[in-house]
Amino acid sequence: TPLTDTAARPSDETQTASRERTATRRHYLMCRPDHFTVAYRINPWMDPAVPTDTSLAVRQWQTLYDTYVSLGHEVELIDQIEGLPDMVYTANGGFVIDGVAYGARFTHEQRAAEGPAFMRWFADHGYRVAEPAETNEGEGDFLLVGSRILAGTGFRSATASHAEVSRLFDREVVSLTLVNPSFYHLDTAISVLDPLTDDESANIAYLPSAFDDASRATLERLYPDAILVDETDGAVLGLNSISDGKHVVIAARARGFERQLRERGYEPIGVDLSELLLGGGGVKCCTLELR
Ligand code: ARG
Repeated sequence: TPLTDTAARPSDETQTASRERTATRRHYLMCRPDHFTVAYRINPWMDPAVPTDTSLAVRQWQTLYDTYVSLGHEVELIDQIEGLPDMVYTANGGFVIDGVAYGARFTHEQRAAEGPAFMRWFADHGYRVAEPAETNEGEGDFLLVGSRILAGTGFRSATASHAEVSRLFDREVVSLTLVNPSFYHLDTAISVLDPLTDDESANIAYLPSAFDDASRATLERLYPDAILVDETDGAVLGLNSISDGKHVVIAARARGFERQLRERGYEPIGVDLSELLLGGGGVKCCTLELR
């Protein structure tokens, strides 16, 4: 009978394809790019010779801000300091769990002053600040997936910072090595889809070619159900996205990833941040989660 047919279907079909996703309200820190420009080159996306349009950057950024607000999330702002054009990428300003803010210590001297600026903001807003001893670029390289922390290295954050984070938060930290300079932060190569769910169902999307063989094997073992994103979507920083468990805010140009998300029952929302891409950042880079 048809009923028996339905019951005999592989159970993962209901778990992945038509699964009902639930959103949870999030709390983010953003920085309006009032002083945005590309004045130096610390990643392959940046070219100081290409003109930038600050007012367009602000308009595109505003769309992202409005998207979060319309989804019911709470967004706080830090003022951009003149002379720190990369401050708009707040994801690099720290890594915050349970009211504890691990501060950033930037790799490049051009961004060094952002570290103390973000730590000041955290302290002024009631977070306990943990001053970093090791080089790290905050949520650019640290991603919370369920209860586990995925930590990137290879271009920016030092592996010593992974140990520091594991001591500070007393959680499992898995080190992953990035190998492609265009995907220099972990959040350019991995997207966390269900950050607040239990470990069983916590899932990610990633760009396999961004990792060395050992890290790729680790990801395959830990996340057998992960969405594997292709090069075209990776190349528009499609993985640099923000999920609330249901809605996934992604680069509007990441069409393949959009389809993959829909197939899994998520609701992708495309936003165009082409101007901020000139600095090498996308949706996630402009967003720091405050937990
Ligand atoms: N221009 C910035 C840098 O190279 C971009 C940072 C992007 N942020 C991120 N979370 N991936 O540091």
